[in-house]
Amino acid sequence: QKLEMELDSIEKGGYEHFMMKEIFEQPRSILDSMRGRLELEAGHLNMGGVRAYERKFVTADRIIIVACGTSWHAGLVAEYLLEDLARIPVEVEYASEFRYRNPIITERDIVIAISQSGETADTLAAIELAKSKGATIFGICNVVGSSIARATDAGAYTHAGPEIGVASTKAFTAQVTVLTLLAMIVGHKRGTLSDTKLRELMMELSNIPSKVEKALLLNTEIEQMAEIFKDVSNFLYLGRGYNFPVALEGALKLKEISYIHAEGYPAAEMKHGPIALIDENMPVVVIATKDSSYEKVVSNIQEVKARKGRIIAVVTEGDDVIPQMAEFVIEVPATSEVLTPLVSVVPLQLLSYHIAVLRGCNVDQPRNLAKSVTVE
Ligand code: G6P
Repeated sequence: QKLEMELDSIEKGGYEHFMMKEIFEQPRSILDSMRGRLELEAGHLNMGGVRAYERKFVTADRIIIVACGTSWHAGLVAEYLLEDLARIPVEVEYASEFRYRNPIITERDIVIAISQSGETADTLAAIELAKSKGATIFGICNVVGSSIARATDAGAYTHAGPEIGVASTKAFTAQVTVLTLLAMIVGHKRGTLSDTKLRELMMELSNIPSKVEKALLLNTEIEQMAEIFKDVSNFLYLGRGYNFPVALEGALKLKEISYIHAEGYPAAEMKHGPIALIDENMPVVVIATKDSSYEKVVSNIQEVKARKGRIIAVVTEGDDVIPQMAEFVIEVPATSEVLTPLVSVVPLQLLSYHIAVLRGCNVDQPRNLAKSVTVE
């Protein structure tokens, strides 16, 4: 019995749960996902799977991303990245919907399938469908040799290491890292990303692990915040631009492990529905980092405040405007706008973790959920 408990604790690296261990592994797993790919000194980016299909990427009419769950959220981030940096039209599809539609796919399309496990049945079926129509399939998987990794024409692995917690954390940031590298390489090859901009982004991307490390220092502060919100029954998450998918991911994390109903929304879309839910009992997490939509998000915060919503704002370090409006402020390090999700998602992972633990939930194995969904 004692030995079993000790083994369990060793496996968890001294953390109480795998999820916490995995959240804290992110500086490392992000770095591992860039290793050998981002060569800062040489000013060179290098991804074997892309090299072989370089012409395809340069001439592609369109990229279609298929995925499920958290991987789908990474796909949404990639939509912003690929459109911004590589100027390729992108569509992001739930694999389960895509496979049963009559999608228009041609040989000039590239389908990117994102999957941590590499075994998700719907994603695999979406790949087979796209393949039958002649598209090139590029996979981003974490599990080496998995079914999806084998079904694709080319790909790039995320090097997050085994993820045990059912709620995905380090796999998400590893996916976003790899997708960022991909968008940078393709943008540079297509001539939409200049040498200077590429260098700047490479430099900033290499700083991300230490910025994530810094964001993890928020842990104690967030644990205290969790104490205050642990008994609510609804949460709203808002973000715009690159932080819109982060809002969705924050809400998903919370509902998966704490069973609190949470909705993620693009902040400006709030006025078309969710605003009706806001009252003094509704916590609203707003991701409001200093980026191109900052001013707009500040007005969204004011709209929430006018309806007495309880604002928890994720802001950039040194922000002196939002702290005057929000009930709680979580400060994350500044980074380039396109890299923001890698940093801003961290406090949301921690918040859902602590709320779930305080509610006595089984965070590593939440009810009704499976780590990999190999059936429809
Ligand atoms: C399940 C897991 C999620 C995951 C999703 C997609 O629902 O619980 O954490 O995001 O499947 O899984 P995949 O392995 O394809 O990324």
